[in-house]
This record gives sequence, structure tokens and C-alpha cells, in this order.
Amino acid sequence: MGLPPSPLRRRSCLIVTTVIVLVPFTVLVLIVGPDLSTEQTLSQRLAEYQMRLQYLESMYRTRQEDVAILSQYLGLSQSPTSSTNSGPSNDNTSHIPFNTSSILENLSPEARLILKNSTLSSRFPSSLRMPTAFHFLPHLLDDPMSLKPSFLMSKSRTGVSIVLGVPTVKRDKQSYLMSTLQNLITNMDEVEQNETLIVVFIGETDMDYISLTAKQIEVRFGSYIENGLIDVVAPSVSYYPNFDKLRITLNDPLERVKWRSKQNLDFAFLMAYAQPKGTFYVQLEDDILAKRAFVTIMKKFAIDKTAVRDNWIVLDFCQLGFIGKMFKSAELPWLITFFQMFYNDKPVDWLLDHLIDTKVCNWDKDQKHCKQEKAKYWFHYKPSLFQHIGTTSSLKGKVQKLKDKQFGKIPSFYPHHNPPASVKTNIAPYKNFHLNRAYRGESYFWGLLPQPGDLVQFVFSHPISLKRYLFRSGNSEHPSDRFYNTTVEVLPDSLTETSPIWSTYNSTADGYLIVGGFDAFGLAEGGIDPKIGTIKEIRLHVHSDSENWALLSEIHLQDTSNNVR
Ligand SMILES: *[C@@H]1O[C@H](CO)[C@@H](O)[C@H](O)[C@H]1NC(C)=O
Ligand SMILES: *[C@@H]1O[C@H](CO)[C@@H](O)[C@H](O)[C@H]1NC(C)=O
Ligand SMILES: *[C@@H]1O[C@H](CO)[C@@H](O)[C@H](O)[C@H]1NC(C)=O
Ligand SMILES: *[C@@H]1O[C@H](CO)[C@@H](O)[C@H](O)[C@H]1NC(C)=O
Ligand SMILES: *[C@@H]1O[C@H](CO)[C@@H](O)[C@H](O)[C@H]1NC(C)=O
Ligand SMILES: *[C@@H]1O[C@H](CO)[C@@H](O)[C@H](O)[C@H]1NC(C)=O
Repeated sequence: MGLPPSPLRRRSCLIVTTVIVLVPFTVLVLIVGPDLSTEQTLSQRLAEYQMRLQYLESMYRTRQEDVAILSQYLGLSQSPTSSTNSGPSNDNTSHIPFNTSSILENLSPEARLILKNSTLSSRFPSSLRMPTAFHFLPHLLDDPMSLKPSFLMSKSRTGVSIVLGVPTVKRDKQSYLMSTLQNLITNMDEVEQNETLIVVFIGETDMDYISLTAKQIEVRFGSYIENGLIDVVAPSVSYYPNFDKLRITLNDPLERVKWRSKQNLDFAFLMAYAQPKGTFYVQLEDDILAKRAFVTIMKKFAIDKTAVRDNWIVLDFCQLGFIGKMFKSAELPWLITFFQMFYNDKPVDWLLDHLIDTKVCNWDKDQKHCKQEKAKYWFHYKPSLFQHIGTTSSLKGKVQKLKDKQFGKIPSFYPHHNPPASVKTNIAPYKNFHLNRAYRGESYFWGLLPQPGDLVQFVFSHPISLKRYLFRSGNSEHPSDRFYNTTVEVLPDSLTETSPIWSTYNSTADGYLIVGGFDAFGLAEGGIDPKIGTIKEIRLHVHSDSENWALLSEIHLQDTSNNVR
């Protein structure tokens, strides 16, 4: 789907695509070299490259389609009488006169050949015109900009392993979008973040609401917008049909028909946007919780399935609706087209079921056989990686209490191996939730009402070079028991008073450098500038009264010699 980008840009795309398709072959040959030890790693790596190749091939096919459309433009510009009111010719770009022969001259020989082939075939009077998205969504032709996002905030990250699609709409009551994004991000490590793209799709046409939501995301997750982890996109008003003119289907009230029809189109848009950006696509929602390391787990499951030649279509990481369904990006056009064809007829999760049904079931056999067949293409991963947290659906009045029983309990703390240190705090512990047990990864620390000036101290047995620190406060059972207005401070071992580092950081009267603090989500995390050198101690320093107790569910101190996670 998608109106073709401007024809002039396309030739460079074509050349780039040729390179993109050829290079991985070379890389494959180089990498699957002698340094692989076991057969298992070999088949896993092969599977990974196979998936990647499939994705690149689909990108290449898209470019070929582009060329076919481009050549139609060229054909049209030479014989204007053949112009009809078909899709692409409605676009203003087709009225721009351009010099055909000069365009051809700048193309590579391969591109020229493809172009010649398809130009010839489109010139035959008998050549067919295949239906496109415009046939199913004719309203898209009313505005040439109907497929152009009305809002886009993106650093154009592409070529990732996994694209996570997070659709969001305005809700009457509570919005969980920010906490969902925070949860997704904190459950990825840096390696996972680097190979992931989160696409937030705002399914609204009210520009004020879109800008406001985008601004909120930017304020809270600015660094992740900046480094390309998060894209925010919204469709144009003309992307949607007149929802009042929908057919009533399944005997549903109009409001419900509107809601589920729009959801189909939202998913189609989001998938079409995500498709060229990564190897796998995972559909999520804006009110979910994820498990730790879910990206790695999903990727591994996909590669394992591919390595044993399971011809999967869906990998399912959550039992509910459409949450946590993984697809190969190369196969998304199936879904997108299916949703476009039947958007007015069925809810999106039914359509997915129907599509698989249509692909694999034999109608001469019974339902049981169909179920067995489907299970060969639709694999469930247990326990679930995602849980639904919202209780108010975006459909007015619909209360959504469904919870995934397979998700299990969310851990109340996350253990780590930390450098030897003696720990102490003047915050009184509750029961046996002592700080030293939390530091050793046996439990969490839970203390009574912190007071201004309270400290949580980690004094190292020997001064160490600390690379990163992470303190997570609150947990799923006691989310509000966080550290508020609390800074993270380190005591350098041997800095002289004249070291320039003292002007880089704020410091306390007793000689600690303030290196960070807890954010609104109860997380304090960061790297330690190597210029600080070795440190004797790291501590948390409370500055305000709190109405809540304070709970530390994760303490992770990484020194430069210790890479254990
Ligand atoms: C397309 O053409 C119409 C009429 O000529 C004009 O109103 C519209 O602004 C144009 N759109 C673009 C994107 O140029
Ligand atoms: C188109 O470009 C070719 C090559 O650059 C040139 O020879 C020819 O005169 C151009 N034709 C027109 C109509 O500008
Ligand atoms: C062009 O068409 C010929 C004959 O149909 C075919 O063999 C050739 O592969 C095509 N070339 C390209 C680049 O598509
Ligand atoms: C993630 O990507 C950034 C930017 O390319 C890079 O500086 C950083 O080292 C990467 N981190 C990991 C753990 O690969
Ligand atoms: C130092 O403190 C001031 C005032 O509290 C603050 O504005 C500034 O950002 C701090 N600088 C650093 C490097 O933390
Ligand atoms: C944090 O504590 C300091 C010192 O008591 C106070 O001045 C400041 O307003 C507090 N900040 C917040 C956000 O509560």
C-alpha cells in the first residue's frame, strides 16, 4: 500500500535496493565462515539470515512495483488520452511534465531493463489493471494526500530486527500510553533498544490532540525520539472514510461498527508504515505491560521456529485479542490487504483468524482438522510476554477486564550480581525487606516513610570504576512506593579539589558529586563519566518528605570489570 513516492526519488531507491539485496549475500558468505562451532548456531544463524533475506526480497519486490507504476506514469505522459481517473493519475505529480529520456539516461542498465519490460507490457492494449487498495478504499482517491501522514516524528530508523506497533486513540478516562512506553523501554536493555523500533500510531484526526500527545512523548522520551527508538505517526483526515456511511454488519450498533472498522484501518496504516522498517513486526496495544527481555525472547523464538523449518505465519506472545502477535514484515501485505477488503465486516482479530483459516483449512475436513492445521502455522509462546492493564476500552462504555492468565505473576524484584559493598540506610526497613538482601538480589528493599536528608549508602570494599548504575523503585504490587525527589551521588576516590570535574557536576557540602536522580517513573539510571575515576561509594539522597514508603526492586551496579547482568 502507499502512494508511490515521487518518481524522481525512485531511481535512486532502485539502485540502493539492488545494493541492499546483493550486499547481505556477500555478508552471509563471509559470516557463515569457519568461526562457527556448533551445528545449532549454524542453523540458527542461517535462519536469521533467511528471515532477513526474505524481508529484503519483499522490499525489492516493492521497488519493482514502484517501477511498474512509474512506467505507467511515463506511458501516461506520452499518451495523455489514455488517462483515466485511476489511482495514481489522480496524484498531482502525474501532471508535472518531465523529460522521459533524461530520466532513463540516469538509470542503471538493470533499472532500464526492468523499466523497459514493464513499460512495454503496460503499453499492450490488452494489459490488465489489477485492483489496488484504492478499489477497496475509494475515498482515498478524493485527496492526493490521503496516504501521507498528517504528523510524523521520526529519525528514520530502518533495518531493525523488530518493529513494535503501538496504536493509541483518545480515551475518555485514563490513558496508559506513557506508562506502556515506559514499561516497554525499561524492559529492554541497550542492545535490544538498538535493534528495535517502537511506532506509536495516533489514530485521531484532531490535530491538537495529536500534537499534544506527540509533545508529551517528546518531553518524557526525548532521548529515545532522538536516538531513533520511537517514531510517532498519525494519518491524515482523508485516510478515513465517512464512518457514518458504513454498512451495519453483524447486527452490531453503529457505534461498534464504526469503532471496529476504524481499528481495522488503523492497523492497516500502522502495518504499512512499519513494514519497510524491520524484519519482524509485533502488534501491541497502548495499555499493556511487558516482561523483561521480551525482545530477545521473541526474536529467539522466531529464529528457532525458522531454523527447524516451521513455516509459521503468526507467533503469539499473548493470549488476548491482537496483542503480542508477531508477523514476518515480508508477509504484512497479506494482512494489510485483507483488512482493507473486509474492514467494514469483521473485528480485526476475527479477520486474522479468517485469513489463516482461508490459507490452511480444508473444507472437506472438519473443524478439528482445521484447528490442527492452524496450529502448524500459529504458534503460542508460554508464558505470555504481555499483559493487558487497561480496564476501560477505547470503545465508549465497553469495559475491558480481560487479563491473560498465561502472563503469570510479574516479578516483584530483579536480582543482579553487584560488586562487594557494605550497605546501610537510615530508612527503617519493613519486616525483613532489608537493604542488604536487596543488594544481594534475594528480595527487595522496603522502607518506611523517607525523610529529607535520608541516605541509602553503598560503600564499596575497594574503590571501583563504576560504569553504569540502575536503581528501580516501586514494583508491580506497590507501584507508588518510589523514591521521589531523590538524587544519586558518588564519592570519588582521589579527585583533587582543582579537578575540572567539580565544575561539570553539582556537588554536596560533604564532597559527593551529584550524578543523577529518580525520574517520574521511579527509575534512576545512568553511566558514570570515566573522568570521575574510581569511587568509594554511591548513595541515594532523599530531599523531600514522602507520603509513600520507599521500595527498591532493582539495584544494578556495573563496574568496568564486571559485565554480568
Ligand atoms: C493538487 O491539485 C489541486 C487542484 O489543482 C490543488 O488544489 C491541490 O492543492 C494540489 N495538491 C498538491 C499536493 O499539490
Ligand atoms: C530531454 O533530454 C535529452 C537528454 O538530456 C535532450 O537531448 C532532449 O533535448 C530533452 N528534451 C526536451 C523536450 O527537453
Ligand atoms: C524482461 O523480460 C524478459 C522476457 O519476459 C525476462 O526474461 C527478463 O528477465 C526481464 N527482465 C527484467 C529485468 O525484469
Ligand atoms: C547502541 O547504538 C549506539 C548508537 O549507534 C551505540 O553508540 C551503542 O554503543 C549501541 N549499544 C550497544 C549496547 O550496542
Ligand atoms: C546543578 O544544579 C542546578 C540548580 O539546582 C541545576 O539547574 C543544574 O542543572 C545542575 N547541574 C548539573 C550538571 O546537574
Ligand atoms: C526537592 O527538595 C528540595 C529540598 O527540600 C526542594 O527545594 C524542592 O522543591 C523539591 N523538589 C520537588 C520536585 O519536590
